[in-house]
Amino acid sequence: MGNVEVELKVNGRHYKLEIAPWRTLLEVLRENLGLVGTKKSCNEGQCGACTVIMDGRAVVSCLVLAIDAQGKEIHTIEGLSEGESLHPIQKSFLKHGAVQCGFCTSGMVMSAKALLDDNPNPSLHEVRKAISGNLCRCTGYQHIIDAILDVSKAEHDI
Ligand code: FES
Ligand code: FES
Repeated sequence: MGNVEVELKVNGRHYKLEIAPWRTLLEVLRENLGLVGTKKSCNEGQCGACTVIMDGRAVVSCLVLAIDAQGKEIHTIEGLSEGESLHPIQKSFLKHGAVQCGFCTSGMVMSAKALLDDNPNPSLHEVRKAISGNLCRCTGYQHIIDAILDVSKAEHDI
């Protein structure tokens, strides 16, 4: 099967690409658009490292075909900071020492953002649930949870 034309909107930018129809959103983000902040690990929906936000929901981009992401608003970790200025969630992760090797971090931050956009004052249970699909091999979960809980409504609502 030949390539197909695909239009994606990522971090507010429009992209027109010709790709094989079976390529995943994760592959296209990293290999075609150079957005390598979204990490590839298990590549089968188990670890959450590849989490992005699609139409307001956290999704694992390794399980989404790029052709199915057409017409959706996609946000990746690259869209969070403004120039040198980190997003409040990113700042909170640093403040709480929630980053060790960093491999899970962009996925964790995107899951946290999807949660906080929807629910600015989540409970501990809601935070745990929101990141339940994100594995941290460094097992720094408590710091990550503390960082997410510490982001106030006023701070994250930008
Ligand atoms: S790389 Fe997508 S869930 Fe692990
Ligand atoms: S910080 Fe290493 S996997 Fe989470």
